[in-house]
Amino acid sequence: MVAAGTRWALLFFIIIPLLSFMVGSEKIIIRGASKVTEFIHGDGDGDGKRWAVLVAGSRGYDNYRHQADVCHAYQILKKGGLKDENIVVFMYDDIAFDVNNPRPGILINKPNGNDVYNGVPKDYTGDNCTVDNLFAVILGNKTALTGGSGKVVDSAPNDHIFIYYSDHGSAGVVGMPFGDDLYANDLIDVLKKKHHSKTYKSMVIYVEACESGSMFEGLLPSNLSIYAVTASNAVENSWGTYCPGHYPYPPPDYDTCLGDLFSISWMEDSDLHDLRKETLKKQYQVVRRRTAVDNFDRSHVMQYGDKKLSQNPVFVYMGTNPDNQNFTLTPQYYTSSSFSWSVVNQRDASLLHFWLKYHKAPRGSTEKAEAGKKLRDIISHTRHVDRSINQITKILFGDKKASQILTLIRPSSQPLVDDWSCLKMLVKAYEKRCGQLSWYGKKYTRAIANMCNAGVRVEQMIEASTQACMLYG
Ligand SMILES: *[C@@H]1O[C@H](CO)[C@@H](O)[C@H](O)[C@H]1NC(C)=O
Ligand SMILES: *[C@@H]1O[C@H](CO)[C@@H](O)[C@H](O)[C@H]1NC(C)=O
Ligand SMILES: *[C@@H]1O[C@H](CO)[C@@H](O)[C@H](O)[C@H]1NC(C)=O
Ligand SMILES: *[C@@H]1O[C@H](CO)[C@@H](O)[C@H](O)[C@H]1NC(C)=O
Repeated sequence: MVAAGTRWALLFFIIIPLLSFMVGSEKIIIRGASKVTEFIHGDGDGDGKRWAVLVAGSRGYDNYRHQADVCHAYQILKKGGLKDENIVVFMYDDIAFDVNNPRPGILINKPNGNDVYNGVPKDYTGDNCTVDNLFAVILGNKTALTGGSGKVVDSAPNDHIFIYYSDHGSAGVVGMPFGDDLYANDLIDVLKKKHHSKTYKSMVIYVEACESGSMFEGLLPSNLSIYAVTASNAVENSWGTYCPGHYPYPPPDYDTCLGDLFSISWMEDSDLHDLRKETLKKQYQVVRRRTAVDNFDRSHVMQYGDKKLSQNPVFVYMGTNPDNQNFTLTPQYYTSSSFSWSVVNQRDASLLHFWLKYHKAPRGSTEKAEAGKKLRDIISHTRHVDRSINQITKILFGDKKASQILTLIRPSSQPLVDDWSCLKMLVKAYEKRCGQLSWYGKKYTRAIANMCNAGVRVEQMIEASTQACMLYG
């Protein structure tokens, strides 16, 4: 017993400095005035149907916020007048009834927020929530589905499609809760196929993830009638918000972040306004202002693809809540004085969750032991990944060139990598020898892409990984 106690005390002293280093409380100051501009009044296109695909790419209670975001998006579309048959939802669906959820069966997306879980269709949940099903749904190809509700985007030439995704991401890749990740080039291929099938008039894609700009940068052509908005540019983090201990605070019984900054920014904007009177461009500006800040390390909302589409009212894609008809935009909405939020890096949000669990659990309890173990595992994992990737890069390029490979960022007109199958194979080769990268380790996908661009072959990666991770596992 004494030994166990000493171990926990030791752990405590190891963790505190690490946490203060890793879980930085991030303060955002948003200020500055922007003119209220004239809105383009319009009904959008009368003929076409509206379709939506909503995707939460994560699972686990520490990632509560992504599914809460997606459920909230569903409520906006539903109030906007879209029918369930036209909204396809991908979520693992393990949050609402997780033992940690203080309000079983209820999800909220902001402090004092209403339930957003009620009524959300369970189209692709659990192990059916895969990238292959997502692509089949977008393409409207029922025969390519495995499991799930069978609902697909069965769209016609005049229809409009809205895709919203929220999760962890990294250079060129975003997660799915089950099976393979979603790589940027595969998504672009699917979008090109969809365009080729002439089954939509225009499409809007909103993506919340770290380095989400890299999903489209140098990749999404402007001639596919697709307009994409991302939470961050290609090289920066995106941010969780309404996190414990970070203003605005979630209710005290929540040990997890309730939302993500880019996501709640567009959704809280859509919640309020008559979306007939707000263009996508205006929403982009509002969201960019709320999300971006002057510090170099913050997230800059980006737009890609066919920017002409941003002249369309948001209504064309989301409909509008009739209750918002008389909501008038006061100039104060856009010029409002500074409001100060603190947010948590997507990659640190899980650490914060497990830290709180550890911290709150009674001394000597099994929960404390479990949460402590989880924290210790996360921290040793991050060390292992950092060390092994550094080692591999040195083996492949020598000490001098290694740091260049680890940090090089291509110009924004260029995609991350020329040979995407190389990137996938090198990631697999690493994982085979050194264990899963996980969302912490995926921060190295850009470095691995640089290895591909420098001509590293899969056999070399296998050899270097074997050497670097010889003692692993
Ligand atoms: C639909 O998917 C199936 C199975 O993957 C494939 O064989 C077929 O060609 C696809 N159909 C279309 C129209 O793309
Ligand atoms: C996956 O889809 C199948 C077919 O619709 C369904 O029977 C099954 O329950 C689904 N699995 C999960 C985990 O939701
Ligand atoms: C879009 O533009 C590119 C480059 O100009 C061209 O190669 C491609 O065929 C065009 N695609 C469509 C669908 O028009
Ligand atoms: C908006 O105002 C008009 C005119 O005053 C009124 O007829 C309508 O009921 C109001 N709509 C809502 C949703 O309050």
